[in-house]
Parts: sequence; structure tokens; C-alpha cells
Amino acid sequence: MPRFIIEGGNRLSGEVEIQGAKNSVLPVLAATVLCDGECVIHNCPNISDVDTSIKILTYLGCECTHIGDTVTVDSSNMKNYNIPDDLMREMRSSVVFLGGILGRMRKAVISSPGGCELGPRPIDLHLSALEKLGCEVDEDHGLLYCTAYDGLKGCEINLSFPSVGSTENIILAAATANGTTVIHNAAKEPEISDLADFLNSAGARIYGCGSDTVIIHGVTRLGAVEHSIIPDRICAVTYMAAAAVTGGKITLKNTMPSHLVSVISVFREAGCKVVPMGRNILFEAPEKLQRVPTVRTLVYPGFPTDAGPLLITMLALSNGTSVFVENIFENRFKYIDELKRFGAKIKTEGRVAIIEGTDGFSAAPCECTDLRGGAALVIAALAANGITKIDKIYHIKRGYEDLPYVLNKLGADIYEEE
Ligand code: UD1
Repeated sequence: MPRFIIEGGNRLSGEVEIQGAKNSVLPVLAATVLCDGECVIHNCPNISDVDTSIKILTYLGCECTHIGDTVTVDSSNMKNYNIPDDLMREMRSSVVFLGGILGRMRKAVISSPGGCELGPRPIDLHLSALEKLGCEVDEDHGLLYCTAYDGLKGCEINLSFPSVGSTENIILAAATANGTTVIHNAAKEPEISDLADFLNSAGARIYGCGSDTVIIHGVTRLGAVEHSIIPDRICAVTYMAAAAVTGGKITLKNTMPSHLVSVISVFREAGCKVVPMGRNILFEAPEKLQRVPTVRTLVYPGFPTDAGPLLITMLALSNGTSVFVENIFENRFKYIDELKRFGAKIKTEGRVAIIEGTDGFSAAPCECTDLRGGAALVIAALAANGITKIDKIYHIKRGYEDLPYVLNKLGADIYEEE
């Protein structure tokens, strides 16, 4: 099993180009099944979740190429409407294929999606919304059979929680439905707007993304489209945290500072200098990181749950006690036991983590429990004295493009051992 070997203690400096957003490219790839003609998608990160999406599209009968950071998909010959169980299990985002396949084929068969273990991740909101749009859902032996016998029809949907995946699935199913769909309490994440931009360029009529009311006027067909994926805001946070714990000074290139407002304010509270300059961010760590009394994760534009593990690792090296409250997922602290091996002093109770800052970490063998928790271990290892071995790095590869290359360019010492 491949693992990362990291010698800590190097101060990061230089420039880092931020990859395209994982949480954007996956729904956009799912959306290609709705389009007649070739979709050309630029700024696609080279991550294993993109490979899995391409495997799903290929299985469905689409023709795909992946050269550099450009993926092309032609779904003209799509014939299948089911996703094999092994591909469903590989990532949570496989569930957003449901809306696209239903929109195109009027039927879909999937099993439960996999992805990071962050506590229960039901898909009830996805399914009840699709039922409202006219889809019948039957469960048998772990498979979900979804059929829109009379086609999909626009309707009003009130989400009880602004779920990111549900909002995406509704947009995908409604884009070519008959009539108008209105989503109340929709998710407002930038990745939803990116999906809508992609679909609108293909001929869809989707309005209001970025607000909590999204209106989708169904159209009869979507055409060929060329689109570039927005930068990954969680990768940007990852490199900021890595620079922060190593006393570093870096420039993040190709970012969207407006997507990072809540995060930037927390880094500034911790004493970091963060200067947005157009699409770049200049970042400098303080002499000593300051504690941040309380941080709470919230839906966008609040502090993102995916940035939690990265921030907690940084706060564990601050000058006092910080409190972190995870409001989105029930069980997102599994990686904290691994972090403690470095000497982090963190107590958890339910959704609350109390982080007592310490002066330094020492290297420790550890293993990733999930994607962002894995990235947090890399950050800890960069700060630690000594050589760390991190196992189960397949979690990290789901969302980060060639992390050793990017970090070594900044002066880190990390390599992958087969
Ligand atoms: C997406 C992101 C993930 C991010 C999360 C929150 C992708 C691939 N993943 O995940 O990185 O951490 O948004 O910003 O884009 N819920 C239900 N029923 C449902 C759906 C969700 O109860 O049908 C609950 C979940 O259990 C969770 C909360 O709603 O507690 C948030 O889920 P959601 O916003 O749907 O997140 P994901 O789309 O899974």
C-alpha cells in the first residue's frame, strides 16, 4: 500500500497554483449525461474521484478522454442507466449521477453511495425531492430503482436542510423536466453556482444559484459546452494551514478569495497575514499562532466543515485553548486520535472539540481515516520534528492532485513510498 514519508520542520515558501474544485467537477461530470454533443471541461483536477466519475460515464456508454486537466465527454451513445455497486461505493458524489441519469433516461438504478465516513450520510432529501418531481423510488436488496414513468415535472421543493448534494440532484433532474421547479432553502455553495453555469452554457435556464431560492425552467435539450471548473477552496485552506504551521510565507495562485471570506477571517484571528490580490492570496504565518476562542462550521457562506480538520491541526499549535463546533456532520472527528499521536492535545465530546495549543509536534506513524482528516495529518507531519509515515493515503488521493509535488515545490520534504 502506498504511503507518504514526510520529514517535518521545513518552512514553506513560494507559489502554489490551486487545482480545480473536487466538489464542482464531480457534479459537472455527472451533468454531461444531459448534454447532446461534446462537453469540454477544463481545470479538472487529477484526483481519483475524477477517475471514478470517468469510469461511471464510460460504463454508462459515454465516450471520455482525459488529457492534462481537460476532460471531454460525449454522451451521444449512452445506453445504461444503472451504476455498478463497486463504483457507487468509491465516492459519495456518485449519488449526483442519479439526477442526471434520470433527466436523460427517465430511469436510474443505484445502490448506496460510499465516500468519507463522517457519521450518517442519508440520501432521504435527494429521494423525496426526486419523488416530488415525478419519480417513483423502489428499494430492493439494497438497490434503488428510480423511474419517472410519465417524465419529470417541475414543482416546488422545500428542503428541510440546505443539502449540497440534494440541491445538485434536483437541479440536474429539473434542468430538462417539464415546467418550472423552485427549490426553497437551497444550498448556496459556490460549487452549486458552477454547476448551474455549466448547465446554463449548455442551454439550461437556472436562476438564483448562490441564494436560497433556485428557479429552474426546464428546457427540452442541452447542447455541447466548454467550461472551466472553479478553484478548489478547500485546497486553498489546506495550503494556508500548511504554511501557517511551518511559519511559512506563500502565494496562492488561481483562487477565488470571495469564496474564502469566513476562512480568511479565522486565519487572521489566529494571527496570520492574509492579503487577497485579485485571484491570488498572499499568506504569511505569524511568529506564534494565536488561539481562536470559538469556530463553528455552518453551511456556506459560513465556515466550511471540510476545512475543520485543517484548522484544528493549526489551532493545536497555537498559544492557548480554542473550541471547535462541527454542526454539519455528526461524527467528523475520527482523525483526531491520529493527530494526538503527534502530541496534539484535543478533547472531543459529541460535535465539540476543545483544542489546547502546544509548542510543537513530534513525528508519529499514522493512517488516514478520511480525505480532509488525511490532509490534516500531512499538515501535522510538516510541522513535526522527525520523519512521519502516513498510511491509507488513497483517502487523500480522492481530492488532492499530486500533493508531494505541490508541497515539495514549496520547500517541504515529502515523497510517496510504494
Ligand atoms: C457536500 C460535499 C462535502 C461537504 C458537504 C457540506 C461533495 C461531494 N461533498 O457533501 O465535501 O462536506 O457538502 O458542505 O460536494 N443530509 C441528510 N439527508 C440527505 C442529505 C444530507 O440528512 O438526503 C444531511 C447529511 O447527513 C449532513 C448534512 O445533511 O449531516 C449535509 O449534507 P450535504 O450538504 O448533503 O453534504 P454532501 O452533499 O453529502
